[in-house]
Amino acid sequence: MTSASSKPPRRSSQAVEGARRVRDEAIASVGVGILITDPHQPDNPIIYVNPAFERMTGYAAAEALGRNCRFLQGAGTDPSAVAEIRQALKEERDLRTELLNYRKDGSSFWNELTISPLRDAKGRVTHYVGIINDRTERKRVEQHLQQVEKLAALGTLLSGVAHELNNPLFIISGYAQLAREKINQGRYDDLKGDLETIREAAQRASTAVNRFLGIGSRAEARRELCRVDDLVKQALDLLSNDFVIHQVTVRTQFDPTLPSILADSQDLSQVFLNLFTNASQAMAEAHGRGTLSVSATLIQDQGGPWVEVRVSDDGPGIAPEHLPRIFDPFYTTKPLGRRTGLGLTISQRIVTELGGILTCESVVGQGTSLIVRLPIAQHSLAVVGEKPGAPMMLVVEPDLELQADIGSYLERQGYCVTRAGSGLVAVRSLERARYDVLLMDAMLPDITGEEFARRAVAMQPWLAGRTIVLAGKENVPDLQRFLKETGSTVVCKPFSWQVLGQRVRETLLGGSAAPGSPSGVAK
Ligand SMILES: Cc1cc2nc3c(=O)[nH]c(=O)nc-3n(C[C@H](O)[C@H](O)[C@H](O)COP(=O)(O)O)c2cc1C
Repeated sequence: MTSASSKPPRRSSQAVEGARRVRDEAIASVGVGILITDPHQPDNPIIYVNPAFERMTGYAAAEALGRNCRFLQGAGTDPSAVAEIRQALKEERDLRTELLNYRKDGSSFWNELTISPLRDAKGRVTHYVGIINDRTERKRVEQHLQQVEKLAALGTLLSGVAHELNNPLFIISGYAQLAREKINQGRYDDLKGDLETIREAAQRASTAVNRFLGIGSRAEARRELCRVDDLVKQALDLLSNDFVIHQVTVRTQFDPTLPSILADSQDLSQVFLNLFTNASQAMAEAHGRGTLSVSATLIQDQGGPWVEVRVSDDGPGIAPEHLPRIFDPFYTTKPLGRRTGLGLTISQRIVTELGGILTCESVVGQGTSLIVRLPIAQHSLAVVGEKPGAPMMLVVEPDLELQADIGSYLERQGYCVTRAGSGLVAVRSLERARYDVLLMDAMLPDITGEEFARRAVAMQPWLAGRTIVLAGKENVPDLQRFLKETGSTVVCKPFSWQVLGQRVRETLLGGSAAPGSPSGVAK
C-alpha cells in the first residue's frame, strides 16, 4: 500500500480516545501485575497499579497508590536483591530480579520483578514501570525437581560406592573362605598372610567410603614411598581368580630399577584394581577371553621423569566419540546397573592428586591402553643421585614416644621420615623405598638389631655406611662387631638432639667420623 502524502494521517480525537481505551483495557486485563512510579515525587511513589497487582498482592489500588513499593518487602526479603534494585534505579537502567515479597494477608510470594525507566524525548527519566510475576509455584516445582535430581544423583552415587566396595568385598570373602579351609586343615601358620590381605581389603573399602563422603583431604598426610611395580603385582595377584574365570592371560614387564614414588599405596592399588577389572571385563564381554599386558617403566617425557604403568587389553576398543568422555563421572556405555562409570573418574582423581596423568589410547577392534604416569619422589632421585631433594630417613624405634620425637625432630630438619616400630615392619618399608639414612634401635622386639641391620644392608647396600644405631648400652658384642664391619655409627641413649642432628648430617655427607668409632658417642 502506498500513500500520496509524506506525513502520517492525523488521527481523529475519537480514534485516539479509542486506542487509549484499548490500551488501558489491555493493561487492566493482563495476568501480570503492572505498576508505575513517579521518581519526581518524594520517595518515588506508586501512581498506578493494574487489577492483576491488586489480585497478586491483596492490596487495593487505593492502599498502594502514593507509597513506595518497599511496603511489599519483609523479613525474608534478601537485602542484596533490594540493594541491586537501588543501584539500578540510581543508574537509571533496566533490571530483572527475583525477590521474596509479602501479600496484605502476610503470606509470602516469589516476585519476578522487571523494572524499566520511561524516558521523554530528551532521554530524561519521567517514570518507572514495574512488571511483577508471581513465581511461587514455579519455584516450588524447581525446588522439587532439584530434590528429585539430588535423590537420583545420590542413587547413582550409592551404586558407585557399591561398585567400589565390590572388589574389596570379593577379596575379603575369598580370603575368609581360604582361611576357613586352612583352619579345617590345621594350617594355622599360613593364616597370617590371609588375615593381613583381609585387613588391607577392609581398609580399602573404608577408604572408598570415605572418598565418597568427601573425606579425601587426608591423602597428602598418608603418602609414603611406594614401589609401583610391587603395587601392580599385588593388584594382579588379588585379581588372579578373576583372570582365570574370564580366561585372561596376563603378561607383565617391569623395569627392575624403577625409582620409588610418593603416594597413598591404598589409593594407588585402587587405581590398578580398577584398570585391571575394567580391562578384564571388556575382553571377557567382547570375546570371552583376552590378553592383559601390564608394564611399568621409567620414561623421560613431558616434564618427566615419570614411572609409567601401561595397562593394555585386546578387547573391543573404545569408539572415538566415546573416548573424550570416558573419565566423566557416571559416563558408561554399559547397560544401566552393570557399571556406574565411576571407576575411571576416581582413578583419574587419585592419579591427578599425586601430580600424575591418566590417559587412554584406543583403537576399535584392537584394544585399549590406559596409561598412568606418576612423578618420581624427590628423595628417591636424591638417593639414585639424579637430583637433590629431601633426604629419606628410616627410623626403627620400638619406643613409640621416642619414635615420634625423633620423627618430628628430623622432619623439622627438613628430612622425609618413615617410622617403624619393629624390624619386620621396617623390612617392608625397605622393600618399598630407598633410604639415605637408617636410624635404628639396637634392641628390636621381633628380630635382633644385628639381624635387621644385616637384612637392611643386604637390601640397600649403600646403608652400610649410613646406619645410625641408637643404643641403650653400646657394649652389645654382636652389634659392636657388626658396626665395625659396616662402618655404622652409634648414638647412646639418652642423647641430645644436637648430637643426633650432627650425626645424621655427618652420615649424609659420607660420615666424617671414622667407621665404627663415632666420636663422643660410642667407644
Ligand atoms: C517501578 C518499580 C517497581 C518496584 N516494584 C517492587 C516490588 O514489586 N517489590 C519490591 O520489593 N520492590 C519493588 N521496587 C523497589 C522499591 O520500590 C525500592 O526501590 C527498593 O526497595 C530499593 O530502595 P530502598 O532501599 O530505598 O528501599 C520497585 C521499584 C520501582 C521503581
